[in-house]
Formats: sequence, C-alpha cells, structure tokens
Amino acid sequence: MAWSNNAGFKLPNLIENKLELDEILSRPMHETVKAVSQLDGDILILGVSGKIGPTLARLVKRAVDEAGLGKRVIGASRFSTPGLREELEKAGVETVPCDLLEEDQLDRLPDASNVIYMVGRKFGTKEDSSLTWAVNTLIPAMISRRFRRSKIVVFSTGNVYPLVPVSSGGADESTPPDPVGEYAQSCLGRERMFEYACKKYGLKTTFLRLNYAVELRYGVLLDVAQKVFEGSPIDLRMGYVNVIWQGDVNNIAVRSLELCNSPPEIINVTGPDIVSVRWLAERFGEFFQREPVFANREMEKALLSNASKCFRLFGPPAVTLEQMMKWVAHWVVIRGWTLNKPTHFEVIDGRF
Ligand SMILES: NC(=O)c1ccc[n+]([C@@H]2O[C@H](COP(=O)([O-])OP(=O)(O)OC[C@H]3O[C@@H](n4cnc5c(N)ncnc54)[C@H](OP(=O)(O)O)[C@@H]3O)[C@@H](O)[C@H]2O)c1
Repeated sequence: MAWSNNAGFKLPNLIENKLELDEILSRPMHETVKAVSQLDGDILILGVSGKIGPTLARLVKRAVDEAGLGKRVIGASRFSTPGLREELEKAGVETVPCDLLEEDQLDRLPDASNVIYMVGRKFGTKEDSSLTWAVNTLIPAMISRRFRRSKIVVFSTGNVYPLVPVSSGGADESTPPDPVGEYAQSCLGRERMFEYACKKYGLKTTFLRLNYAVELRYGVLLDVAQKVFEGSPIDLRMGYVNVIWQGDVNNIAVRSLELCNSPPEIINVTGPDIVSVRWLAERFGEFFQREPVFANREMEKALLSNASKCFRLFGPPAVTLEQMMKWVAHWVVIRGWTLNKPTHFEVIDGRF
C-alpha cells in the first residue's frame, strides 16, 4: 500500500477493504490521546451502534490503550444491527443493550464522567413524526438529568440552521437557529433539552453541529459517486454541501469533552470547502469516464455551515476533500460494501 503524509497523519493513497477503512476511521491523533489522558473517569457512548458510533468507540478505546490508561469505554444502544455488539466487545468496548425510550432501562447505564451522545432519528419522520420527537427530545431530557454531573458532548446537526445564501460562506455559530422541517426542529429540541439541564443543574456540554460526515460506506460523496457511476440523475437544487471525513469527526468529538461548559459550547463541525454538487459529479464523471446526468438547477440557498471556529480550536481536518473523493471513487469501482443508507442531502423542504 502506498502512503501519503498529511499534517503528520499517515494516510493510504487508496483504501481496499473494511479492515483498512475501520483502521483509519478509528485512528486517534496524538492530540486525542493527550486529551483522553487528561480526562477523569470513564467514557460512555450513547447511540454507539449507528453509522458513526462504532468507529468512534474503537477510536476512544485505542486512545485509552495508547495512553496506557485503565479507563472503561462503554457503548449503549439497542444494537439493532446484528453482530455489531460482538465486534465492539472484541475491540475491548463494553456494551450495554438498552432502549433509552424505556425509562426503567436507563438504570442499566453505568455512571460515567464523560458521555458522548449520538442517539438520533431522522429517516421515517414523515411516517412517524412523534417517534422522531420522542427520540430526539424525550431521550435527551432523560439523559441530561441522569448524567447531570457528567460532561456530555452532544452530536447535533447543521440542520438547526436555516438554508443560507451560498455567497454567505455558511452559517456560523452566531446564526440564529431556524430549522426547516420536523426532523430539524426536533434536533433543535434535542439541543434545547440539554441547554435546559445546563440552566437547571449546571450540566456541562458541547454541541457539535455536524454536517455530513463522510466515509466510504455512506455519505454525500458516495451518494453522488454512485449516481454518476450508475447514470442516475443528480438533483442539483441543493447545489452545495459541506463534508468532513468521519475520522476527523471522531477525533474532534473526543477532544470536545474538555471544552464542555455551561451554557453549552457550540461548534460547527464540517470541512473548509463549500462543495458544488455539479462540480463533484463532473470530477467523478472524469474518473469513471461517464457523463453525469443532472436534474433541476442550483437554488441560491443551501444548507451550509462555516466551521472556522472548529479549525481554530482543533486545526484543519487531516483528510482533504481531494483525498476523500479519490478514496470514494476507488471504493465505487471495486464495488466496496456499503450501508445502503443514502443521506438524502438533496431534500430541500426538510421532510425526511
Ligand atoms: N452521519 C452524519 O453525517 C450526521 C450529520 C449530522 C448530524 N449527525 C448526528 O450525529 C448523530 C450520530 O450520527 P449517526 O449517523 O451515527 O446516526 P445514526 O446512524 O442514526 O445512529 C443513531 C444511533 O441512535 C441509536 N438509537 C436510536 N434510538 C434509540 C433508542 N430508543 N435507544 C437507544 N439507542 C437508540 C441507534 O442504535 P439502535 O438502533 O441500535 O438503538 C444508533 O446507534 C445523530 O444523532 C445525528 O443527528 C450525523
């Protein structure tokens, strides 16, 4: 395997299989290992079995081991995906199966001074919006009370912002939330529940307003690349996006524990580029030697965040857009396994 070196972080030119992918996504940076060694107590990840959680849990465990610490790394969720619980246990992550909507099951959760909160529901909101509100607001209300003495890093979303003019450079943390559609509104509800616990109990928390984590098994880049490869039309109305490599997200999430505060510290988490979907499809088209098929035209507004604060705090992401595109294109060509979970980034009315 050939390697390139980016900001002291050695990266392969191409990724060939799940093993290599998981290794890169769960690799802690030096600063992350340092941050973990400065934490008091154990680390609990809630919602560990989604798209991001398994790689984050492994990264935390690796950071704990590299720092030579005996901290417990614990992951909880319902573990709807078969086999995942066993995989995490094998990697040294303790697991607690638990439906967090069932109040009595909260008692199963161990105490932990450090919590990373990743529970959420997006797709299916059109069909059952009350369940989305319950997952995205009722669980945060219960968790923020149960763990009021812990530090909690909360995965939120850039969807809490309104669509903004592309020329604005994206919403920053001072942009007032104005979410479009019920999913996004419930995500603001999630933040509000944690914020309430800050006021009521002095909870310390950080909100990570993420948009579009990217890896090879899912993500906006994969969605666009697959459409170009298959010759399916690409809807251009949401014409611009922000993306960030999931390994960078994982490192940022752990390092954010030390920033938890009351009132909440708010950080936009995404990459530095405002990426044109048309440009992206054309680049993939050149790679695959296929002409992309487009539908509709770009709107003047898009869901975009400005993550300058994040770069000031943690430095720029280690993985560039160009590198991600190269990895994704190759993954599509070798027909690498995918989660088959499209992001639906093209949705403009907030209905998921
Ligand atoms: N991925 C992205 O690009 C992205 C972008 C913006 C924001 N985010 C936010 O980041 C968070 C993590 O992202 P993700 O992509 O990993 O989300 P995800 O794939 O939707 O995972 C959500 C997690 O919540 C768990 N969960 C749902 N209902 C539960 C319940 N009743 N009890 C216990 N666990 C429950 C799920 O596991 P089980 O079904 O096994 O319980 C899963 O582990 C999400 O909350 C999302 O809002 C992600």
